[in-house]
Amino acid sequence: QTNEKRVEWLKNGVLKVLQAKYGNLYRRDNVVLSGTHTHSGLGGYFQYTLFMITSKGYIKASTQALVNGIVRSIDIAHRNIRPGRIYMNRGDLEDSSINRSPHSYLNNPQRERDRYKSNTDKQVVVLKFTDLDGDGIGLLSWFAVHAVSMNYTNQMVSSDNMGYASYLLEQDKNRGALPGQGAFVAGFSSSNLGDVSPNTRGPVCVNTGLPCDYLNSSCPVGGTKMCKAFGPGGDMFDSTSIIAHNIYKRAKELYGKADKEVTGFLHSINATHTVRTHTHTHTHTNLQTHTCLIKKISLAHTFWIETLCQTCKPALGHSFAAGTTDGGGDLNFTQGAVVGDPFWDEIRDVLLGKPSNETQECHHPKPILFNTGEVKPLPWHPDVVDVQILLIGSVAVVAAPGEMTTMSGRRLREAVKQELESEGKLKDIEVVISGLSNIYTHYITTYEEYQVQRYEGASTIYGPHTLSAYLQEYRGLARAIAQGGVAKLPAGPQPPLFEDSRLFNLLPAAALDRKPANSSFGDVLQQVYPVYRVVRRADKTFVTVEIYHNRTSTWEVVCTDASWETRFRWLKGSGRQSNVTVEWHIPLQAAAGSYRIRHLGHAKQLQGSRPVVTPYEGVSAVFAVTPSYYHQ
Ligand SMILES: *[C@@H]1O[C@H](CO)[C@@H](O)[C@H](O)[C@H]1NC(C)=O
Ligand SMILES: *[C@@H]1O[C@H](CO)[C@@H](O)[C@H](O)[C@H]1NC(C)=O
Ligand SMILES: *[C@@H]1O[C@H](CO)[C@@H](O)[C@H](O)[C@H]1NC(C)=O
Ligand SMILES: *[C@@H]1O[C@H](CO)[C@@H](O)[C@H](O)[C@H]1NC(C)=O
Ligand SMILES: *[C@@H]1O[C@H](CO)[C@@H](O)[C@H](O)[C@H]1NC(C)=O
Ligand SMILES: *[C@@H]1O[C@H](CO)[C@@H](O)[C@H](O)[C@H]1NC(C)=O
Ligand SMILES: *[C@@H]1O[C@H](CO)[C@@H](O)[C@H](O)[C@H]1NC(C)=O
Ligand SMILES: *[C@@H]1O[C@H](CO)[C@@H](O)[C@H](O)[C@H]1NC(C)=O
Repeated sequence: QTNEKRVEWLKNGVLKVLQAKYGNLYRRDNVVLSGTHTHSGLGGYFQYTLFMITSKGYIKASTQALVNGIVRSIDIAHRNIRPGRIYMNRGDLEDSSINRSPHSYLNNPQRERDRYKSNTDKQVVVLKFTDLDGDGIGLLSWFAVHAVSMNYTNQMVSSDNMGYASYLLEQDKNRGALPGQGAFVAGFSSSNLGDVSPNTRGPVCVNTGLPCDYLNSSCPVGGTKMCKAFGPGGDMFDSTSIIAHNIYKRAKELYGKADKEVTGFLHSINATHTVRTHTHTHTHTNLQTHTCLIKKISLAHTFWIETLCQTCKPALGHSFAAGTTDGGGDLNFTQGAVVGDPFWDEIRDVLLGKPSNETQECHHPKPILFNTGEVKPLPWHPDVVDVQILLIGSVAVVAAPGEMTTMSGRRLREAVKQELESEGKLKDIEVVISGLSNIYTHYITTYEEYQVQRYEGASTIYGPHTLSAYLQEYRGLARAIAQGGVAKLPAGPQPPLFEDSRLFNLLPAAALDRKPANSSFGDVLQQVYPVYRVVRRADKTFVTVEIYHNRTSTWEVVCTDASWETRFRWLKGSGRQSNVTVEWHIPLQAAAGSYRIRHLGHAKQLQGSRPVVTPYEGVSAVFAVTPSYYHQ
């Protein structure tokens, strides 16, 4: 595909390969890509300009690796298709999430808040998959929490708390298998996590130990940068592990007791929402003068107001740059800003141009920092957005193209349930929200939360009525399903293809690698100790830990770089020399025996004048792990 002049965004890239392999089986309407929010992953695979800036460009190698990996897992699933049953269960998980913008949440109507016991959703919803003999083959679950237990100082690739929960359950079910190699698959999906943090001890001023300001998360000394959320553990590894174990244990319990069988039909339905409703320029028309049609939903349990107003051209507010108490925000921005800062407004005007009056009014009360919808010629943010619902019997999976806050998610679930059940054919539907699906559009708050303009409101890029617009779209999809499932929805506009020539990449190509004189790549710099005592207290991988079997005289891989107990650090030095350190945090249950650690890598060197990348490996000496002992 390197000769393609135009580049697809990720979901299209995946669909294209699937189409070539499977024809019309896996399509835009029945494939959902639901992402995770992590600060420990790769970037450069999303072509809208704002996202390319943070990753220094479009990185083809990242995109290709993601497409290949996603397609490969679909290939494996496809090869293993067999008849089976699905069971559903749900239950609450406490002590694993807090609301990081409680002030915004409190702006929702009292009567609505009174219906819920907490300002975040605590439910874990679990689907248990079995074969016809009743043997468990997999789990899919949803829980609303940001996967940001690892903070942004971490430079290792990590799947954070949700990924570790998935790893734990798979290791548990696939005893003895390497990560990702066993038959049992455990998926932990994101949900309406927009205002939900895993850092459960909450924010504190790190310099003084005092609480941060409730409204703007600022500290009396040092401002926003000093206000950080921590916990529940002593450091980020600890915290990741605690949250992951909580999620894993609860999901496993619910899985074990799941006995409500999911039956019925499969439906999938999709559409696009075009957020820029007025693309042509009527210079003399004030677009804001049209009347908002206010529809008061009259269901007994529904108290909010849906306003059928237009969505705005995308823009981010000042408080976006403040970041959150989970990290980010290097400049002096503060959450909760409803007035712009003249200094930054001027810089913005020079860089991006002044936002039009129309866009400013549309986003009110958000002071606009980045008017991404008005920058030409490259699109900075999506303005055609995928909306999609999958119905699996009595479970409806709503694929949301961003990060919905707790209350936004509750409203959406309720609206979809109401429409699905409106015709009387579908009953007792469990609606789950799969967050960060298909395309990324930042956050989605309620109209009331938007007024407060904390980070989530400032990052609701289509303006105050973003949620209302989505509610309409998803109601439409749900109604179409309720009315028989044969969707007769218009095709709708498609997101743009990206001209290859217009994508930029400021990352230099990987430089040549050097090594000290009289040495080889893969030389071990610091040997392992000959013996380690445990005390009480593959696929492709960069690292393996191997145990020796005397009987067969073979080495068996027991850990890879996907194992929680290994840490792989690449240290880039001066003069293009780099070192690698491998840590193996030997678990208590490690078998006694002879071990070695292997590192597999690639070095780029000139052969004549041509740079050539060649694989190398380095192996430690053999060391012993002896049985653990107890000391009282
Ligand atoms: C919905 O999915 C179908 C089939 O996958 C596709 O043909 C259609 O273009 C999609 N609609 C939109 C609006 O993307
Ligand atoms: C944050 O709000 C407090 C009042 O609650 C105010 O004193 C302080 O100046 C604000 N900080 C910033 C940086 O805006
Ligand atoms: C940021 O704002 C805080 C609080 O207003 C102030 O104490 C701090 O000096 C400011 N920092 C910079 C770099 O301007
Ligand atoms: C990140 O976590 C480490 C502990 O693992 C801690 O030392 C550091 O202060 C944290 N940094 C931020 C910005 O939260
Ligand atoms: C935009 O609003 C400002 C302030 O209200 C006004 O002075 C200006 O004329 C407006 N510009 C346009 C193009 O309407
Ligand atoms: C490299 O090895 C050669 C031959 O053993 C020796 O003459 C030379 O001094 C060594 N160079 C360095 C930098 O150690
Ligand atoms: C395995 O073989 C090595 C060398 O042949 C020997 O030193 C070691 O004791 C043996 N270990 C076991 C558990 O038999
Ligand atoms: C790599 O290790 C060597 C030998 O221990 C040391 O001299 C060098 O500074 C290290 N380089 C980096 C980038 O850590």
